[in-house]
Amino acid sequence: MVHKVMLSPDGPKVSEIVYGTWRLLEGDPSPTTDALIERFEWCEELGLSTLDTAEIYGSYQVEAAIGEVFKARPSWRESFEIITKCGIDVPSEEKGDASIAHYNATAANLRLCAEKSLKLLHTDHLDVLLVHRPDWLTSADETASAIEKLLDDGLVLHVGVSNYTRDQVELLNSRLEAPVVTNQVEVSLLHMDALYDGTLTQCEQARIRPMAWSPLGGGRLFDPANESGARIRKCMDEMRGRYGDAEDDALAFAWVMAHPSKPVTIIGSNQEKRIRSQASAAGIKMERQDWYALWSAAKGHGIP
Ligand SMILES: NC(=O)c1ccc[n+]([C@@H]2O[C@H](COP(=O)([O-])OP(=O)(O)OC[C@H]3O[C@@H](n4cnc5c(N)ncnc54)[C@H](OP(=O)(O)O)[C@@H]3O)[C@@H](O)[C@H]2O)c1
Repeated sequence: MVHKVMLSPDGPKVSEIVYGTWRLLEGDPSPTTDALIERFEWCEELGLSTLDTAEIYGSYQVEAAIGEVFKARPSWRESFEIITKCGIDVPSEEKGDASIAHYNATAANLRLCAEKSLKLLHTDHLDVLLVHRPDWLTSADETASAIEKLLDDGLVLHVGVSNYTRDQVELLNSRLEAPVVTNQVEVSLLHMDALYDGTLTQCEQARIRPMAWSPLGGGRLFDPANESGARIRKCMDEMRGRYGDAEDDALAFAWVMAHPSKPVTIIGSNQEKRIRSQASAAGIKMERQDWYALWSAAKGHGIP
């Protein structure tokens, strides 16, 4: 069972492993509302009480699909925490005035997106709203003013960022009354930048948990053509006996979650067996030398 943890010292409580919905509607045909209800039932059973979504997911269709689930099961709004993200505009029917993909963290756009998310998700509040990507053209003052207003109006309970550098987090925090509650960034055995560039260090220092996206490298861990992935999986074969014969995906999650910044790690699978396996990572405490063995396998060399 996945337990709840504090994302920041001021909350909110979220499940230590989160169910991500970027790929929610993938499949041919796309899953029906009933199929999504069944998937959310697995999440509920496993303790995956937090959903991660975004305005842009599924070409702007995922939030509405989740909203249909909450419409069919209104009591679930109390059972699940919703984290959504805003601020990416790509040419589409929904973004009629976008002629090129761009970031937009202006006050007007954040307000518009948040209000739209509330409506589509059939809720009167968002547990956490994240600015999806840093927008190089909007001042921190402007982004912060929109955030403060959303918090004051009770539409959003907590605010965070995604894919921000540590300097960008620091700048935005300097304009906010309460600091951001997370920075959602890519972390996996196949993508370790956040370990080196100060992103995870900053979260640890502020005692906020990062959220780790694409913990399996978007599935590349299992691509037979990926040499690093092949070395990692071979290394996992040698250690899985120590972890109750855990699957590769569970070990990959446990590797991310072992970092002292305590990343809340996001599942991206649509398959029941894999969701169950990845949720089981909450019960795995990876041993130091196994962690470094996987680091070395990923890099193809030992520590410097
Ligand atoms: N903030 C951001 O900018 C950002 C960016 C990307 C993602 N995210 C969030 O992070 C979540 C997770 O990202 P992700 O989907 O890239 O995660 P991921 O776990 O790295 O990749 C998921 C992909 O790997 C496949 N997969 C999972 N387990 C597997 C296994 N055991 N063997 C083979 N293939 C496997 C899945 O296919 P199946 O469905 O067939 O299992 C799916 O295509 C997203 O849903 C989203 O919420 C955030």
